[in-house]
Amino acid sequence: MTRAVAFDIYGTLIDTQAVLTRLSELIGAKAPAVSQLWRQKQLEYSFRRGLMGDYCDFSVCTRQALLFACQQHQVAISAAAVEQAMLAYAELAAFADVPAGLEALQQQGIPLYAFSNGSRAAVQQLLERAEIAQYFAAVVSVEDVQSFKPDPKVYAHLAQTCGLPASKIRLVSSNPFDILGAAHAGLSTAWLRRDPQAIFDPWDVQPDLTLDDFSDVARQLAAGQ
Ligand code: LAC
Repeated sequence: MTRAVAFDIYGTLIDTQAVLTRLSELIGAKAPAVSQLWRQKQLEYSFRRGLMGDYCDFSVCTRQALLFACQQHQVAISAAAVEQAMLAYAELAAFADVPAGLEALQQQGIPLYAFSNGSRAAVQQLLERAEIAQYFAAVVSVEDVQSFKPDPKVYAHLAQTCGLPASKIRLVSSNPFDILGAAHAGLSTAWLRRDPQAIFDPWDVQPDLTLDDFSDVARQLAAGQ
């Protein structure tokens, strides 16, 4: 039985699509390709820094990944445009289905946690702007343990913050790597398949639940899943 639910932030609760829109205004037709590589490199840089034990603020990974993606696609981006693109990251909105889903979960009396690679300040600000901060018992940031998902230390830190054994916590994430990391650390998992084309890594581990939209989260957990 789930006693606490933790949510990944970027791409799960918070819609990153607006970054692509801003990038299109800034660099034009190559924006979709740059944006895809940007996200991929952002995560790769966080994985590498986690392995190297060389933690930095997640925004550093984000910024350096943007520079890489632009170079790779031969896009000359000005320093001012980099700042504009980074600003878009700080001004994202929640997916439309999120507030009602969080409300329904809160009414079930389950404590909810925001759990992210982002710094506590960045995540707190994002949740406030998106008007969903009030639903969370706490923001759990990897900065507390100076590493990144999927280091088992960050999931252990989440469990410690919740004051619960890992097995009583459910992680809801749209990121397969995060689901695999959580499962490896003993949490139960719900993969929110926001993109119907998304592929779950064939690692012989399945999410405990696979959900197509956020209202399913509250419904399934209410059903005692
Ligand atoms: C996060 C990234 C992984 O919010 O989406 O932690």
